[in-house]
Amino acid sequence: MSSTERTLSVSVWRGNAEGGHFEDFQVPERDNQTILDVVSWVQQNLDPTLSYRYACRVGMCGSCAMMVNGKPRWTCRTHVGKVAGEDGRLEVAPLRNLPVIKDLATDMDPFFDKWVEAEGRFHPTRTRAHDVERVDPHSAARQKADAGIECINCAVCFAACDTVAGNSDYLGPAALNRAWTLLNDVKDAGRQEIIEAVSGSGGCHNCHSQGSCAVFCPNELSPITSIAGLKRETTKALFGWGG
Ligand code: SF4
Ligand code: SF4
Ligand code: FES
Repeated sequence: MSSTERTLSVSVWRGNAEGGHFEDFQVPERDNQTILDVVSWVQQNLDPTLSYRYACRVGMCGSCAMMVNGKPRWTCRTHVGKVAGEDGRLEVAPLRNLPVIKDLATDMDPFFDKWVEAEGRFHPTRTRAHDVERVDPHSAARQKADAGIECINCAVCFAACDTVAGNSDYLGPAALNRAWTLLNDVKDAGRQEIIEAVSGSGGCHNCHSQGSCAVFCPNELSPITSIAGLKRETTKALFGWGG
C-alpha cells in the first residue's frame, strides 16, 4: 500500500458459534469496489484464515450475504461507496438470525429447514408420461407466482426480519414467499398441505407487516405482499370460503 493511497478502515467479525470479536484491517480503496472485494482483499493479503462464503460474484447464487454496517446485504453487488460512512469505515459481520460457523460464514440449515416446513417444495400434478402442461402467463395466478419467483435464497430478508429474531419457530419471509408462489402455481397439487403448513404456530399470521424484508431484498421482491396473500387464503380456508 503506498502512503498516498486512500484506505478503508474495516472491522471484520472473527469467531465461531461460541463467540467472537471484531478485528480491524486497513484496506486500499478502489473504484467500483464491492464489499465482497474488501473481504476478499483482507483474506488474500492480510489473513488467509478469514472464512466467508461466495460463488458467482454477480448476484445470482445468493451465497455472499453478510451484515454491512448493521444491515443485511448481498456483498458482491453492494458497492463500498453506497454503504461506507464518510470516514470510510465499514463493519462486516455474519448474517443475523443464523448460527455462525466461523467468521462471516453462517449455517444456512435453519433457513432452508423453514422452506421444508412451509411446504416450499413442488407437489407435481403430472408424471413424465404426461404432456407438458400449458400455463397461461397472463393469468392472475401466474402473475402472482411470477412476482415472487426470482428469489435467490440469499437469506437477506431472514436476517432483516425482527419477527424471525424474536420467534425461532417463525417460517420467515423467504419460505412464506416460496409457499405463496407454489399456492398460485396451477401445476402444483399441494394447496391443502401448503395452507396447513403456513397456518400453524410459526406461520404467516406472525408477520407484523412492517416490511423490512421488502426493503432489503436485493432482487426487489416483496415477501410482505406474498405473506399478505397467504393471510387472506388461510383465513378463507379457515372459514370455508373456498379458493
Ligand atoms: S413484513 Fe413480516 S416477514 Fe417481512 S420483515 Fe416484517 S415481520 Fe418479517
Ligand atoms: S426473498 Fe429476496 S431477500 Fe429473501 S431470500 Fe429471496 S432474494 Fe433473498
Ligand atoms: S456471490 Fe453469488 S450472489 Fe453474491
